[in-house]
Amino acid sequence: MDPYTVREDFPIFSTGIVYLDNAATSQKPSQVIEAISEYYRRFNSNVHRGTYRIALETTEAYEDAHRILASLIRARNGDEIVFGGGTTSLLNALARSLSIQLGEGDELLITIAEHHSNILPWARIAKRRKAQLVVTDVREDGTIDLEDMESKVDSRTRIMAVTHVSNVTGAETPLREVSRLAHEVGALLIVDGAQAAPHIPLDVGGLGADFYVFSGHKMLGPSGIGVMWGRHDLLEDLEPPEVGGGIIRSVKLRPDVGELKLNVSYLDVPWRLEAGTPNIEGAVGLTEAAKYLMRIGLENIREHEGRLVRAAEEKLAGIRGVKIVGPRRTDRSMISFVVQGKHGYYNPHAMAGFLSSRNIAVRSGHHCAQPLVERLGFSQGTVRASFYLYNTIEDVEALVSAIRDFVGGG
Ligand SMILES: Cc1ncc(COP(=O)(O)O)c(C=O)c1O
Repeated sequence: MDPYTVREDFPIFSTGIVYLDNAATSQKPSQVIEAISEYYRRFNSNVHRGTYRIALETTEAYEDAHRILASLIRARNGDEIVFGGGTTSLLNALARSLSIQLGEGDELLITIAEHHSNILPWARIAKRRKAQLVVTDVREDGTIDLEDMESKVDSRTRIMAVTHVSNVTGAETPLREVSRLAHEVGALLIVDGAQAAPHIPLDVGGLGADFYVFSGHKMLGPSGIGVMWGRHDLLEDLEPPEVGGGIIRSVKLRPDVGELKLNVSYLDVPWRLEAGTPNIEGAVGLTEAAKYLMRIGLENIREHEGRLVRAAEEKLAGIRGVKIVGPRRTDRSMISFVVQGKHGYYNPHAMAGFLSSRNIAVRSGHHCAQPLVERLGFSQGTVRASFYLYNTIEDVEALVSAIRDFVGGG
């Protein structure tokens, strides 16, 4: 794949920005922008309701979106794909649905490497159900400490929620081992794939997860839409996190003696898990994004990003005081670092501000994963440069040269 050709599809690059904040959100190609605009101009209508021509067209596009997302992650079919607002929203919804299965004495296990979105929903339901939240550790390089995890998983463990790829270090979780630990004790394994699905070729059924969640906006799609894959039998048993229109086969209100009795039967999955009018334009845009990624090939994207990160690692390591945070020389799409100056670490926000003055966009701080960043010893945070298919070696060079100037001048 040729990143220079890819860039021609992304109008934002005509502004000259060096965009290295892809872990926060990705840029969008014209194909996605135009598909959404075309939807509004030509066939905007609701789904699963009207019987007129454009309503049927919209319903077909929406159902197709489920099938195309299924093929992107090699799910069995579109029935295993549930759309929601994004990773955060879907993790909250899942926690809400699963909470009824929890009781006093049960345990939910997360790792210290989680994004806040994969901590707080579990902490909240644990508290509400008087269950225990158990947190497992990482090694010094930010990778999951499997021994610690193994020592904390037991017959009380009901849910394990882990990230596939850390949004701070890019470290990948060995899901097969984690899945073995979870399933040995009959726990459910929920995987936060927000930083993996955009970058790694997935065969979701083979990962050993029971549920796998990710966001559209980090993978060339629009914001406000995300995907939850679930094992079909588990989705069928899942309590709808929200109830209302769009998920009902029949509702009958029966005035009884003194009260109204409700008789409800739900639609099949996935529709029973998507109450209300969904994000249709989001699904249309995400379809184009998934097609775009499949056309380029996730293996090619991963290889390209791996090359850029290794180059960045090597060049940054040549600057005095730079310390790379996270595992070294592994295939990943991002690199976090701090810089030691004469009087301690340079403030990451000051570095990001300096980079911004050169039109280079990076993220600085805790990256919504404060427990991990503090566990690794960087209470002020880090600078994170995160790459995607349209980044080039020139972007790496711009970053490195700006950091060199910052340190030289600072
Ligand atoms: C690992 C991880 N999990 C969850 C999220 C939350 O995603 P969203 O903001 O799209 O809901 C992010 C986003 O930064 C992330 O990196």
